[in-house]
Amino acid sequence: MNGADGRAVVQFRFAGRPVAARAGDTIAMALWRDGAVALRASSRDGAPRGVFCNMGVCFECLCRVDGATVRACTTVVRDGMQVEPGGRP
Ligand code: FES
Repeated sequence: MNGADGRAVVQFRFAGRPVAARAGDTIAMALWRDGAVALRASSRDGAPRGVFCNMGVCFECLCRVDGATVRACTTVVRDGMQVEPGGRP
């Protein structure tokens, strides 16, 4: 199935919740489009953290994919991907 722009629709899960994205989107952009801006909680005070630089520099967007910590802003979504909030650099 393709979206309105002709790109394939990719389904993945974030914190157990189904999310539809477009092929080629990063996790960050797919979640942003879906309305999720908090990708993890600060380990210091629990404050919500999300995309800041959007180019792989700041590590604010860390999340886990299949047990590995990744940057959501540089990781492209795959169909069936399981994404969990948080992670350690
Ligand atoms: S938002 Fe800065 S590394 Fe992803």
